[in-house]
Amino acid sequence: MPVDILVGTQWGDEGKGKLIDVLTRDVDMVVRFQGGNNAGHTVEIGENRYVLHLIPSGIFRKGVKCVIGNGVVADPVALQDEMLKVTECGFDVSELELSSRTHLIFEYHKRMDQVNERSAAVKIGTTGRGIGPAYTDKMRRVGLRAIDLLDTEKLAVRFREEAAYYNKILASCGAETVDIEAELTKVLAAAAYLAPHVANSTYTVNDAVDAGKNVLFEGAQGALLDIDHGTYPFVTSSNTVSGGACTGSGIPPQAVRHVWGVLKAYTTRVGEGPFPTELFDNDGEQLRQIGREFGATTGRPRRCGWFDAVAARYACMVDGIDKLAVTKLDCLDGFDKVAICTGYEINGKVTDRFPASLDELNAARPVYEWHEGWKQDISEARTWEDLPENAQKYLKRCAELVRSEIAIISVGPRRDQTFSVEK
Ligand code: IMP
Repeated sequence: MPVDILVGTQWGDEGKGKLIDVLTRDVDMVVRFQGGNNAGHTVEIGENRYVLHLIPSGIFRKGVKCVIGNGVVADPVALQDEMLKVTECGFDVSELELSSRTHLIFEYHKRMDQVNERSAAVKIGTTGRGIGPAYTDKMRRVGLRAIDLLDTEKLAVRFREEAAYYNKILASCGAETVDIEAELTKVLAAAAYLAPHVANSTYTVNDAVDAGKNVLFEGAQGALLDIDHGTYPFVTSSNTVSGGACTGSGIPPQAVRHVWGVLKAYTTRVGEGPFPTELFDNDGEQLRQIGREFGATTGRPRRCGWFDAVAARYACMVDGIDKLAVTKLDCLDGFDKVAICTGYEINGKVTDRFPASLDELNAARPVYEWHEGWKQDISEARTWEDLPENAQKYLKRCAELVRSEIAIISVGPRRDQTFSVEK
């Protein structure tokens, strides 16, 4: 059964959008299973650059069915807006499906997200898209779901109730309250637009799996931002690891064939939280500029550092990665030497295990292994043999440390700057 999952193995922004776009050459269906429009998946086709937040990255391939699964939290107004923009760019969204079980994000969730960030003892540096509060409502069992978009009378009643509840909290925090009727008008317009797309997608996806179709699950964010396995509390509010594909879509675990892990050749992070290999010097700035490391969703500059094999190995273990796609290798072209973090020194002891404790992560000092750089432009490489020997050595060492095999290498943002590693 050709069901593959593709996930990020770091703190997000590994270049998943591009990889999904490349892999969708051979797929029939792409499914998002967690997160929401906090994600920003960039796809470059020819001279054009597209950033998708909620719509699965398969939308740019004709005939690929795209599904937003039950594990996603979807802002209906933002989704409508994104669908209209993608349509304007000449792509077809008519077959896009939104699971009836997908929970919805509304304006009050976004306001609450911002209030939480201002007042919380621990500032997470969220994207402000209302992700955490929407998942909170799901767990509190008061959330509205896409199926509720189909009964607008009930939707209006429930929306007014929930918005009034949030307005009380917002007012008590001194924050601006939501204009309930104005927001409801937008929500009802989005409901009318989205209604034909709402479906019982658990069956759509399982039917495709049973029919032997090629189905690709598109992860958002990365393993280290997972609510259970990431650097809690500096995480997002969903299960970003591969296991989330099953709960977030309704497919059984035994349906899965491969788990693809997207690994950037160095490490980045947006928002707050521990980052043992973060660089504060010229090397960090060089990575940020060359790698265009600015958030696709918020525009925030990303924190940059050397490749952290301790964190990546942990992620690959939890994800069960059996195929690695290494991205942005070309961004290391200019460095005389490149470093790989092989261990953390924590309170005088060296470990290669990724700690659960925030204090330990904050205290972790990276143990580096230095490799000679390759100092040449690799953006035209199209085979493993085209890569300079030092780049090959670097990649082999990364793969060995994370205990996975490299199957794809990306050496630039364009579709054609990607190649498979032949065995
Ligand atoms: P939230 O998902 O907006 O609640 O943000 C929680 C944390 O996850 C923050 O540190 C965000 O910067 C981070 N985050 C959320 N989505 C992404 C993403 O797509 N890429 C990278 N970081 C993300």
